[in-house]
Amino acid sequence: MADIQTIVVLTGAGISAESGLATFRGPEGLWEGRRVEEICTPEALFADRELVLDFYDQRRRALATVEPNAGHRALAWLDQHWPGELLIVTQNVDDLHERAGAQRVLHMHGELLSALCSACGARGGFAGDMIGGPRCAVCGQDALRPDIVFFGEMPYEMERIEALLTRADLFVSIGTSGAVYPAAGFVQGARQAGADTLELNLEPSAGSHHFHETRIGPASVLVPAWVEELIAEG
Ligand code: APR
Repeated sequence: MADIQTIVVLTGAGISAESGLATFRGPEGLWEGRRVEEICTPEALFADRELVLDFYDQRRRALATVEPNAGHRALAWLDQHWPGELLIVTQNVDDLHERAGAQRVLHMHGELLSALCSACGARGGFAGDMIGGPRCAVCGQDALRPDIVFFGEMPYEMERIEALLTRADLFVSIGTSGAVYPAAGFVQGARQAGADTLELNLEPSAGSHHFHETRIGPASVLVPAWVEELIAEG
């Protein structure tokens, strides 16, 4: 891969799996017998607010018990040393990329450690539980919800991501099943715009055939090996 300047990395739940956070669509991906597509929706929040808040309260608590793994650390190292343009677009709502030391991170599906006020739209850092938690500090309403992009809502910063994909030299997808759009379509956009495309995943994803290359294995092994290779080639 010659002459790489601009790199877009897409990460999904698979990169955090070895840290101990459950993926969404694996055998342990169900939550109280329900599919995430039934819980993570504006309709579910309206119909059963406690159920939805509890789902995310539990995930926020789990964050305190886990640490970044070798996959996060390798990406953070790359972020700190890559002289060209680089963006880690993550579908993950955990903060493990940042805790590993990465800075060029975009959370397209939002963040567990952020709250959004359904009443006034204010957002800000949040720790603790939302059930029985505080009111909005800006408008005073009891209307805080997780700052998470639910199914049916628009992911964050799509224009910025799409602009970068059109000038990417390399697009790398790590630990994502390719089941959820628009992220699942990034590979096609990047490839059409001329990027080399590489998938690192435990199994071939739904869109594996769109990639120039797919490597199968755990992110904690594949990501450090790829970063090393990239630096050696550069
Ligand atoms: N290393 C690499 N890949 C792994 C590992 C691992 N250790 N463990 C699991 N995987 C792979 C699985 O094989 C699967 O293909 O990671 C992928 C995880 O897929 P999903 O659970 O569907 O997670 P993700 O693709 O991030 O989901 C996308 O769906 O529910 C929504 O908003 C949520 O951001 C999430 C989106």
